Amino acid sequence: MASIVGIIWMMTVSLALRNGPGVVVEGRAFFVFGDSLVDNGNNNYLATSARADSPPYGIDYPTHRPTGRFSNGLNIPDIISEKLGIEPTLPYLSPELQGEKLLVGANFASAGVGVLNDTGIQFVNIIRIGQQLEYFAEYQKRVAALIGSEKAKQLVKEALVLITIGGNDFVNNYYLVPFSMRARQYILPDYVSYVISEYKNVLKKLHSLGARRVIVTGTGPLGCVPAELAQRSQDGNCADELQQASVLFNPQLVEMLNGLNSEIGSHVFIAANTNQMHLDFITNPQAFGFVTSKVACCGQGPYNGIGLCTPLSNLCPNRDEYAFWDPFHPTERANRIIVEQILTGTTDYMHPMNLSTILVMDSKA
Ligand SMILES: *[C@@H]1O[C@H](CO)[C@@H](O)[C@H](O)[C@H]1NC(C)=O
Ligand SMILES: *[C@@H]1O[C@H](CO)[C@@H](O)[C@H](O)[C@H]1NC(C)=O
Repeated sequence: MASIVGIIWMMTVSLALRNGPGVVVEGRAFFVFGDSLVDNGNNNYLATSARADSPPYGIDYPTHRPTGRFSNGLNIPDIISEKLGIEPTLPYLSPELQGEKLLVGANFASAGVGVLNDTGIQFVNIIRIGQQLEYFAEYQKRVAALIGSEKAKQLVKEALVLITIGGNDFVNNYYLVPFSMRARQYILPDYVSYVISEYKNVLKKLHSLGARRVIVTGTGPLGCVPAELAQRSQDGNCADELQQASVLFNPQLVEMLNGLNSEIGSHVFIAANTNQMHLDFITNPQAFGFVTSKVACCGQGPYNGIGLCTPLSNLCPNRDEYAFWDPFHPTERANRIIVEQILTGTTDYMHPMNLSTILVMDSKA
């Protein structure tokens, strides 16, 4: 599969190279929005506690150093870039994101954010989703100054976009503390509808900013992560409340995306069933070469699920044998399984089509 993608990719690149003199636009740009599952370092530039800037984060990254990614190595956007044969996008706040680097795209994600503005307030300074979109508009002005506004529009229109958000609206808001403000205000089904309707506004804004191919991931099985097993599970089974949240949220997200696509009259939004992708290796870790999907590699307490992953935490020797790196985030190996499904999954995983199909379609367009 990688080789087919590679060939399509080379075709796209060679087309782009004939775009004219001046700055060379190489390949397709890639933009990333969302939370810690996809942040690749923005929060390192902010005064916030939501950061992955100390060892052992990054232990399996090429530099073996923490980068701000919530992973032992690469995260989902990195692996998508790798499969597309492009360099990883830089965090939008990185001072290195200048000149031709801008043409690769940018990562606007920020650990701790949700759809709602009051999600993650305990992390103080994070880039809320509205601000991520404002940065995207600012980015486009910078690119227009570099290659002209027509080419800048084209670059955005042809880009691939990934957005991963929503989990924190439950974990770091509704269920953060018992009787949270949102839990007193809404019963769960009504809260889910509210988050979905606000999410729809976010996606409309993204579309109005020029995005035309957007992969939207659902939440994982929120009650099955080591942090929730440690705090809420009696018997090692996934915690009920958070499972209910993902069971309600994910199908409504798909419905909302279908609605948006028919309003727009085009398959702009592609739903990635990350809930099912995770459940596959959570229910049968051995089939994927994991020794466990319950215990985090890095952490402390039951399931290594209490607190944060720090230099003082337990650390497993072989990260490839664990589905979860820290109490909330998958290992690079688990991220690779997820990206493989994004690329080649059936319609149960990717709706209405997978990324390799998109790449073929777009290379013909
Ligand atoms: C969040 O804040 C932004 C900026 O203040 C505002 O435009 C947006 O409507 C708010 N979103 C929600 C869901 O309240
Ligand atoms: C997804 O990708 C694979 C491999 O390219 C392809 O054979 C398959 O038909 C695709 N599935 C869908 C539903 O698009």
